[in-house]
Amino acid sequence: MTNHVDWVEEALQKVYTKISRTSKKIGANFPHASVDGTYQLEPPHWWTAGFWPGLLWHMYRETGDETLKAIAEQCEVRLDTVITDYYKLDHDMGFMWTLTSVAHYKLTGDEEAKRRALLVANLLLGRFNCKGNYIRAWNPWFEGDENSGWAIIDCVMNLPLLFWASKETGDPRFRHAAERHGETVLAHFIRKDGSVHHIVTFDAETGEKVGAIGGQGFAPDSAWSRGAGWAIYGLALLYHYTEKDAYLQAAKSVAHFFIANLPEDFVPYWDFRLPEGVKNDRDSSAGAIAACGLLFISTLVPRTEADIYKQAGVNILRSLYERYGTWEDDGQDGLILHGTSHYPEGKNIDVPLIYGDYFFVEGLTSLKGERERFW
Ligand code: GLY
Repeated sequence: MTNHVDWVEEALQKVYTKISRTSKKIGANFPHASVDGTYQLEPPHWWTAGFWPGLLWHMYRETGDETLKAIAEQCEVRLDTVITDYYKLDHDMGFMWTLTSVAHYKLTGDEEAKRRALLVANLLLGRFNCKGNYIRAWNPWFEGDENSGWAIIDCVMNLPLLFWASKETGDPRFRHAAERHGETVLAHFIRKDGSVHHIVTFDAETGEKVGAIGGQGFAPDSAWSRGAGWAIYGLALLYHYTEKDAYLQAAKSVAHFFIANLPEDFVPYWDFRLPEGVKNDRDSSAGAIAACGLLFISTLVPRTEADIYKQAGVNILRSLYERYGTWEDDGQDGLILHGTSHYPEGKNIDVPLIYGDYFFVEGLTSLKGERERFW
């Protein structure tokens, strides 16, 4: 294994230089995709609201820069406006408050942050369907929309908020729901070849599985790469919290599928199973998410296996740094180029995405040394 410290330090320094500038422009707002070099802002209820403050918390931990901490805290306070908005909050409140309030609490012990995160964990628990053993993903998107039986792979990254809440309160209910959702993921989302479904649908009344939908992937039977990234990291976290070997085996299976399908520069296409003629843009965010999951797996497996996962994670992050980074471009707010947010809807294709930037930074900091995970 090569020594990573030099390029990792260099990359983190470049991240710091860049966000020292962009944080003055972005401030306590919620960027999502960078279009023509400028991060577009979303309202606080949008699922991506936690990634910018989460990135700032990581960089605060690395640098001690109080300006970054102050912006992250202001973002968290702004999120209070949506805690009571029943119609807007969905399962992604896990992403949103794990990277704001839980991160804040873990780094500073702030009691107000803990209170917020516990409140949100209760709201997340309220989305659990106890017949189907899944956490409902979204609310109706339009008048008459019926999606009470939909669960999505991304939700594995929302479960750590529930595990955290059980640990903090001593009340196992949160963990019980997370474990049962995890079992549903194992049973219905992970295919034998290691690829994953984005959306699985259930009868919300009986809990019976109904089918699968392509969602942000090309088709129900294709292989959306960011979904695989969520699965690699989320299943590894499920193993960490439950110590059930089936999660580690599933995380490894998805990891092997992901690694085997990477192109030469180690940065994935947005879907690994595209028919001829469909444009195979990259999704750098999928690479960054998977890299964090692969590095985490390398800490969970026996030493004889660890290098496979660590090297794969390093390869992705290093390629993102050297080939996709925007270090010399002051006209670009994003850190990492060539993300694909939602190809089927034609939204935010071939742009920097805030979750790509976030997981790139998380991956770098974890390569620097063991850090307490926000997840
Ligand atoms: N959670 C939605 C996405 O990964 O784009």
